[in-house]
Amino acid sequence: MATNPEAQPMYMDDCWYVAAWTHEIEPGQLLSRTICGRRVLFWRDRAGRLFAMDDRCCHRGAPLSCGRHEGDTVRCMYHGFLYDGSGRCVEIPGHDRVPPKAQVRTYAVVEQHRWVWLWIGDAAEAEPALIPDTHWLTDPEWACTPPGYMHYEVNCQLVHDNLLDFSHLSYVHPNTLGGSEEYAQLRSKVDRLDNGLRITRWFMDRPPPPFVAALLEAKGMSGNVDRWNNYNFLLPGLLIMDSGFAPAGSGAERGDRRAAIEFRHCQAVTPETADSCHYFFCQPRNFDRDKPEVSERLYRSVVAAFEEDRAIITAQARCLREDADFVPMPCGLDLALVQFRALIDQRLAAQRERHARRDARP
Ligand code: FES
Ligand SMILES: [Fe+2]
Repeated sequence: MATNPEAQPMYMDDCWYVAAWTHEIEPGQLLSRTICGRRVLFWRDRAGRLFAMDDRCCHRGAPLSCGRHEGDTVRCMYHGFLYDGSGRCVEIPGHDRVPPKAQVRTYAVVEQHRWVWLWIGDAAEAEPALIPDTHWLTDPEWACTPPGYMHYEVNCQLVHDNLLDFSHLSYVHPNTLGGSEEYAQLRSKVDRLDNGLRITRWFMDRPPPPFVAALLEAKGMSGNVDRWNNYNFLLPGLLIMDSGFAPAGSGAERGDRRAAIEFRHCQAVTPETADSCHYFFCQPRNFDRDKPEVSERLYRSVVAAFEEDRAIITAQARCLREDADFVPMPCGLDLALVQFRALIDQRLAAQRERHARRDARP
């Protein structure tokens, strides 16, 4: 953790970013969202097919999102250039022919398990098989909280850092996700994956945290519990977590989850600009699937907790901006953060070389 993350300008371009919930892009509508510093327009044709392209008209740069959806095309409402889903301008008012250069850049985009995944690199290199598995978002065996979204006015790395070290639960979330300060005494196990980290954290035989205490009580689990937060934190910033609670000593740590309640948290942190990011989240669960009131209650608890995160992280970012020379003082709590940042640095270094080779081609 040697550098001030507020000064990180480059984005990985060989991976998928969560850009939206699928329902955010409604038929006939135009959605503009900035991803990795690029203003991208999302829209659908009449068949529902999704397109992503630069939200900037090639004529004089007006946002196409201020334009008009016309069936399978989008019209810029400054001087009327008309674009199809391939980004090609197919009509210029008052002109018989459209020059071939009249087009905007398009992006590879995939809808999978209620998330819209965007590849900001060369669309020809986009590989859908690289999209991480988040099937719990649509699996009928799992019930979801309402789709969550939050906007952050900080560099995405600060949100990664927060998610990579759960010791903060004790101090940021004492009345929501956290509970006791003993939780911060634990050390997570951190293992390296090809595209991220695996983090394992078991908290045995302790009272449950406030956000699930009433739920567990309603299920007859009134005593201490064994709790786990085991997750993959994947590039470019995706948390997929197996977490849950079981009666203390019931064997969950050894694989016996018959008495447990489980969650599969899916969270995505996507850069907007160097100073802001998007945060998408949902908490699928395997219990009380037919109870929307449980979904609502969990959603409210989670949002309250994530507001707590946003408050401290935003305050932290303000401090960091005030002193570009500040150097953090790492400690054992930062193991996963350091490793994840190293992973990003490696990927960015490889990307620079790849781009240099590409640019040197005759
Ligand atoms: S800026 Fe779009 S048509 Fe002129
Ligand atoms: Fe948190």
